[in-house]
Amino acid sequence: MKKIYTLVCIIVFTLIACETEQKPTNELEAKVSELLSKMTLDEKIGQLNLRGTSSRVKGKLPDSLKQAVRDGKIGAFLNVSNTDYVDELQRIAVEESPNKIPLIFARDVIHGYKTIFPIPLAMAASWDAQVAENSSRVAAVEGASFGIRWTFAPMLDIARDSRWGRIAESPGEDPYLAAKLSKAYVKGFQGDSLNDPTSMIACAKHFIGYGAAIGGRDYNTAVISDAQLHNIYLPPFKSAVEAGTQTFMTAFNEMNGIPASGDRRLLTNVLREDFGFDGFVVSDWDAVKEMIPHGFAQDQKHAAELSLNAGLNMEMTSKTFETYTKELLEEGKITKAKINSLVADILRVKLRMGLFEKPFRVDNSNNLYAAAHLEMAKEAAIKSSVLLKNENNILPLNNKTNIAVIGPLADKPREQLGTWSFDGDGKYTRTPVNVFHDKNANYTFVEGLAYSRDQSTKDFSKAIAAAKKSDVILFIGGEEAILSGEAHSRADINLPGAQEQLIKALAKTGKPIVLVIMAGRPITVGNIIDDVDAILMTWHPGTMGGPAIYDMIFGVAEPSGRLPVTWPKVAGQLPLFYNHKNTGRPVIPEEFVQMDSIPIGAWQSSLGNTSHYLDIGYLPQYPFGYGLSYTTFEYSDLTLSSNAISEKGTLTVKVTVKNTGKRKGSDIAQLYVQDVVGRITRPVRELKGYQSVSLQPNESKEIMFTLSLDDLKYYDNQEEFGVEKGVFNVWIGQHSATGKTAKFSYE
Ligand code: NOJ
Repeated sequence: MKKIYTLVCIIVFTLIACETEQKPTNELEAKVSELLSKMTLDEKIGQLNLRGTSSRVKGKLPDSLKQAVRDGKIGAFLNVSNTDYVDELQRIAVEESPNKIPLIFARDVIHGYKTIFPIPLAMAASWDAQVAENSSRVAAVEGASFGIRWTFAPMLDIARDSRWGRIAESPGEDPYLAAKLSKAYVKGFQGDSLNDPTSMIACAKHFIGYGAAIGGRDYNTAVISDAQLHNIYLPPFKSAVEAGTQTFMTAFNEMNGIPASGDRRLLTNVLREDFGFDGFVVSDWDAVKEMIPHGFAQDQKHAAELSLNAGLNMEMTSKTFETYTKELLEEGKITKAKINSLVADILRVKLRMGLFEKPFRVDNSNNLYAAAHLEMAKEAAIKSSVLLKNENNILPLNNKTNIAVIGPLADKPREQLGTWSFDGDGKYTRTPVNVFHDKNANYTFVEGLAYSRDQSTKDFSKAIAAAKKSDVILFIGGEEAILSGEAHSRADINLPGAQEQLIKALAKTGKPIVLVIMAGRPITVGNIIDDVDAILMTWHPGTMGGPAIYDMIFGVAEPSGRLPVTWPKVAGQLPLFYNHKNTGRPVIPEEFVQMDSIPIGAWQSSLGNTSHYLDIGYLPQYPFGYGLSYTTFEYSDLTLSSNAISEKGTLTVKVTVKNTGKRKGSDIAQLYVQDVVGRITRPVRELKGYQSVSLQPNESKEIMFTLSLDDLKYYDNQEEFGVEKGVFNVWIGQHSATGKTAKFSYE
């Protein structure tokens, strides 16, 4: 029934969308000018205001708020989650405000509204743009029903440090993968047409460098060279502009001494002039006034002046624009033309959204948790889970196996939803234990620890007793949702609480252990890796985590994710990323000297003279791109169409992939390139392509990638984009530390 309903909705919405075709540009710009000519200065300043209400506030809508809308003093709201308020505020705006300019209602609809998909870092592990697009489409359809037509997503911050709590929301460490996902998210949120009532305008955030916070400590300073900015941090944002994102959000942090909300070069030169962005930019929460503690603005008035002149259109929650714009104009510190252009950007987006014709939400709430949405969420959880270890092919288990399900996250409906899942209802979440129960599986469940940080060993004996009676222990642990996300950085990223201790106690039973990790970041597993037989990283898998895990554990489905970030052995290695530079003294594996092998009282020497740590060496626990399958693959016969690439030509790179195992399975073939000598030094490898390949046992397929010179170009410290003649290495393989290789040159 729900499927039919979904279909009917899609048809109805498509018809509505066709009826209110988006306006051609000059008609739209004429309408923007006409509105601007009629608006008072107060109304213009009002459009620059994003007012917040707390989603937890209940009761009567304050009269002062209604009056502010009536006077045209607010342009948009965030977190108005009560639909009566949404309807009432919008009615006042379009019926009673001076120029009847509709409001936009915004919210952080990040990885689902009601149906929660895996966290974005997990979605990145799927390496599947369609999966990402599905998640944002479903989020938009569900959220728009509540009047939310603007989401603060996608988050596009490249993250190289797993201590950073917001790595959970990020697309990982690679600019190429992030740029692909960026497009898919924007497409999904914004739908086929911005004025479709199920479309949400997207917001590419946080512009920029937020993920480069020193030490992985949230809100911390970022220091980014121009070459890194262009080669690493900007690509996903550029891609969001190409996909038509209507909004951007500035980052909280400063980069190279300039807080993002006051960075004219970024907001005007890069975003508007270089990228051609014509939507609007919103600050992050209070970020304009936070330029005071940053030490960039002397007071709130100065902060407003800096942000307005930098090109920031809308201020989130703080009120410096509202309070000081008039004075700044009178004093000549900003111009009327500047204000008009900032307002025009906002009006342009409101017109594109069709809000003037159709300001009210379309109630589509029957579609929440629709069967099709749940199915897509389950598929995403499977495609984003990464199998890290599978000793003796213990997984998949036979469904007759007697399993002891143990661990603090085996039955935690809210925790498995992860960060930014305000609206997801724990009632609808399917935990692994729910599914084991419903499927009448052969299992016993003993939690052992009440929550992930639990230090108490009081229930260990019950867990051990259950383990002794079982064939296999399925330990489902990790981090509660609150341990990642904004302001939730960790310096130690081991399994928290007494989880390691419990795993070690369980290992003593001699029963095999399958460890399922639900977490918002890679978790360092060095202390327990030898105690467990399998590790399945599901991240925070969302509403349908339980059914997905059940299917993967029993081999109904195969975990098919690959790591979108390098997985460290210890937090002390961070930041850690595959596309690093070689250094003048790269590691020579045979010459690596481990700390414990140094004789006591040894003479001072440089021990191999290479770039490594004495205690843990130079390798990560698992490299970027890594992930096992339930079958095995072999790569062979790498061939190039030529041993040189020319200026206008392309080069094709082919490889044969064979399924050498006993099950059907899929792999993600990854193509990496290294520019051996550059005008500035180049990374040891850079991802330049990937393809999913699905094969029956013994089947082989030749797959092909095409490279052009543009794929090899890069920015230097003078912001020049280009590539010079020379030799390149190319690899195709299963992750960033392996592959069949060849050389070619640009002549
Ligand atoms: C602060 C966060 O940094 C940002 O990502 C979010 O969109 C806003 N708060 C609004 O909730």
